[in-house]
Amino acid sequence: MLTSYNLKMPHAVYGGDNAMDNITAILKAGNVKRVAMFTDKGICGAGLFSLPEEAVKAAGAEYYVLDDLPAEPSYMAVQKLVDEFKASGADLIVACGGGSVMDAAKLASVLVTDEYGVKELLDDPGRAKKCVPIILIPTTAGTGAEVTPNAIVAVPEKELKVGIVNENMIADYVILDARMIKNLPRSIAAATGVDALAHCIECFTSNKANPFSDLYALEGLDLILNNIEKACDDPEAMTEKNRMQIAAYYGGLAITASGTTAVHALSYPLGGKYHIAHGVSNAILLAPVMRFNEPACRERLAAAYDRCCHDEVKTCTTEAEKSAWIISRLEQIVKHLNIPVSLKEFGVPESDLDGLVEAGMQVQRLLVNNPRPVTPEDARALYQEVL
Ligand SMILES: NC(=O)c1ccc[n+]([C@@H]2O[C@H](COP(=O)([O-])OP(=O)(O)OC[C@H]3O[C@@H](n4cnc5c(N)ncnc54)[C@H](O)[C@@H]3O)[C@@H](O)[C@H]2O)c1
Ligand SMILES: [Zn+2]
Repeated sequence: MLTSYNLKMPHAVYGGDNAMDNITAILKAGNVKRVAMFTDKGICGAGLFSLPEEAVKAAGAEYYVLDDLPAEPSYMAVQKLVDEFKASGADLIVACGGGSVMDAAKLASVLVTDEYGVKELLDDPGRAKKCVPIILIPTTAGTGAEVTPNAIVAVPEKELKVGIVNENMIADYVILDARMIKNLPRSIAAATGVDALAHCIECFTSNKANPFSDLYALEGLDLILNNIEKACDDPEAMTEKNRMQIAAYYGGLAITASGTTAVHALSYPLGGKYHIAHGVSNAILLAPVMRFNEPACRERLAAAYDRCCHDEVKTCTTEAEKSAWIISRLEQIVKHLNIPVSLKEFGVPESDLDGLVEAGMQVQRLLVNNPRPVTPEDARALYQEVL
């Protein structure tokens, strides 16, 4: 356990009914004249953009839309959007989308200056400084990117996804409006929900876990373990969807206060090289890595069971039984949500194993958080298990 810890978070978060209306008040209070609105074609196609657009219009601000962003973009794709944004002279950013849109917008908020671009931040994230305030509206539940100081971009030449971390990218305002995830397609709700689940369980078992991260990781885990299936299966389950949004937000806070572990570390090359969606690659690795970690974090997993299992008759009594229950619950969720559990359907050949191990072992930023040390042989065995 660390002896000192901190938690930096957005200035304000608005949730519940009509949360979106707060945008109008924020813009008016800040006397904002020009707004850059980041989104993507999927969000616009789903008819979700009109809600924030109306809120901006109601404030009387001029706005223009930046929506030319692929999912899980490379740093070059983000830079292209940033260049467009810089020419606009906007004095505030509103970003409405999943992690891809929010991360691009967070980078833009520190990139108005000509001193550095996304590539330079990959080399030296410490250079980032806040240039314009930012309002984030997540449409998945989710990455927690609305809370964290992280922005993740693909680096094609390394066949890896890389996280840029700087607290100047923490959002000023967050809007958690359940209407944004009401019609989220089931497969995206499932993958992004399991991403949030991974954030909570990894942060709770992380070497960097501390009282601040534990608070949010456990509450987030409780919400997800008891709501994710209904939230994904039933389009009308607004209470459960809202709980998933809050849980994803808590997962982001847990990341900010501590850090994810080997699930996320080993997942990065799967996104970078094979373009497997972030939530899916985490789902594939979640149970195998937690089983590998179990001897080193049994007590924590048992504590998670005590806190999150609300069955009328709790049948587990020993720590070993409790931690096994949590891991089997993770497996059950991934199976129920029909997320792939192996790399087979992504055409990853056995001959790529060496490259995967090499790339995964580069993610020391997260591997150092893992409760059980991960050697290259361990990484190989874990990848082999899911091939
Ligand atoms: N910054 C962080 O702290 C952090 C944490 C975890 C993951 N990430 C990153 O976030 C990215 C993944 O984000 P994501 O999982 O939210 O997905 P995403 O943003 O990549 O979106 C995936 C697809 O879903 C569509 N979509 C999103 N919301 C929708 C909705 N409500 N209705 C219909 N379609 C919708 C998008 O248009 C897109 O096509 C990855 O790059 C990942 O590395 C960042
Ligand atoms: Zn994640």
